[in-house]
Amino acid sequence: MRTNTIIALVLLSCFLSTVVSAISFSKIQLPINASGPEALAFESGTRHFFTGIADGRILKYQGPTTGFVDFGFAAPNRSKSVCDGTNTNPTCGRPVGMALHHQTKRLYVCDAFFGFGVLGPEGGPVTILSTAADGEPYRFCDGVDVHQPTGNVYFTDASAVYDMRQFETARSVNDSTGRLLKYDVENKQVTVLFRNLSYAGGVAVDEKEEFVLVSEFLGSRTRKIQLRGPKPCESDIVNTRPFPDNIKKTRSDDFWIAAATIDRGTLPSLLPIGERINASGNLTETVQLEQWYANKLVSEVHEFDGKLYIASLFADFIGVYEH
Ligand SMILES: *[C@@H]1O[C@H](CO)[C@@H](O)[C@H](O)[C@H]1NC(C)=O
Ligand SMILES: *[C@@H]1O[C@H](CO)[C@@H](O)[C@H](O)[C@H]1NC(C)=O
Ligand SMILES: *[C@@H]1O[C@H](CO)[C@@H](O)[C@H](O)[C@H]1NC(C)=O
Ligand SMILES: *[C@@H]1O[C@H](CO)[C@@H](O)[C@H](O)[C@H]1NC(C)=O
Ligand SMILES: *[C@@H]1O[C@H](CO)[C@@H](O)[C@H](O)[C@H]1NC(C)=O
Ligand SMILES: *[C@@H]1O[C@H](CO)[C@@H](O)[C@H](O)[C@H]1NC(C)=O
Repeated sequence: MRTNTIIALVLLSCFLSTVVSAISFSKIQLPINASGPEALAFESGTRHFFTGIADGRILKYQGPTTGFVDFGFAAPNRSKSVCDGTNTNPTCGRPVGMALHHQTKRLYVCDAFFGFGVLGPEGGPVTILSTAADGEPYRFCDGVDVHQPTGNVYFTDASAVYDMRQFETARSVNDSTGRLLKYDVENKQVTVLFRNLSYAGGVAVDEKEEFVLVSEFLGSRTRKIQLRGPKPCESDIVNTRPFPDNIKKTRSDDFWIAAATIDRGTLPSLLPIGERINASGNLTETVQLEQWYANKLVSEVHEFDGKLYIASLFADFIGVYEH
């Protein structure tokens, strides 16, 4: 019995040291003067991905040899000489949420200033598909996800009143005018699925298109909204971490939410985390990210090819976390 216990302890400590030493973190550096990657969209097959940055560009990462190339932009007449290297300038655009429909290679994008649009595989200017729903313009088109089997797109307008630059005002009045929207790919219509969200950030739809998860950045909660059944649009709160941002589905139909915890030390501060929940909303894993991001928020934790790729408005790199 005692021997068994000792063997068990030895095995346990080996296991723990393996777990600890197995965490690794590396950075994929953005080009010079590029910062603030908000979201990530991966191509299936390659390890290439897209991201939108602070100066209005959509970049495509084509692997370590080629690195990042300019891929697209939503601001009409965007001038590289005026815009490159700037930060959140409405005339330059600000691509945030994005998602790739793999079958058609269409990259759906929210530009915080120009609205909801799409780019083909050759890139270039974004074709704007929608700038308003129910007569109300989007002030801050923010999160995007595609339901792969149908091609339907779900996206959010963080606020119907405040744009991306007015975050502090939105926060001071506890803005709750965010909306969840659906772009029906067949009839090309946008419908409002849910209103009065407290700064609707990220969105993710499940494989069967039965529900969507939507994060409320100011409301410190993530909601699961039913799309079908006796009471469509009925919703439950499934996570209450502060500052939840983008939500990304994994291949096993779990979801990673980029969020934070509050460190109530002498100087209370936010600590960025990634939190994994399953389709019922149960928490299955939390990863702490303050070692690499200090007290800066992360905007996306995206599982791809067994690794977590991490985007942050406050970074000039994409984090790659392996465990
Ligand atoms: C980066 O920004 C600095 C300051 O605006 C500028 O002088 C420099 O030319 C930029 N570098 C590149 C590669 O764009
Ligand atoms: C873009 O350029 C075209 C052609 O010069 C002009 O007609 C249009 O008004 C410009 N759009 C914006 C938003 O500046
Ligand atoms: C949503 O907000 C509007 C205006 O703020 C209000 O009139 C409406 O009753 C709210 N709807 C719900 C379902 O709370
Ligand atoms: C902010 O608004 C949400 C409703 O959208 C509410 O649940 C929350 O309690 C409000 N927070 C504060 C501090 O008033
Ligand atoms: C989610 O996890 C809970 C707790 O482990 C489990 O009871 C539930 O069946 C899971 N739901 C799904 C859809 O996997
Ligand atoms: C999973 O989540 C549901 C809904 O929030 C809850 O009722 C249930 O107790 C949870 N199950 C576990 C094992 O935590």
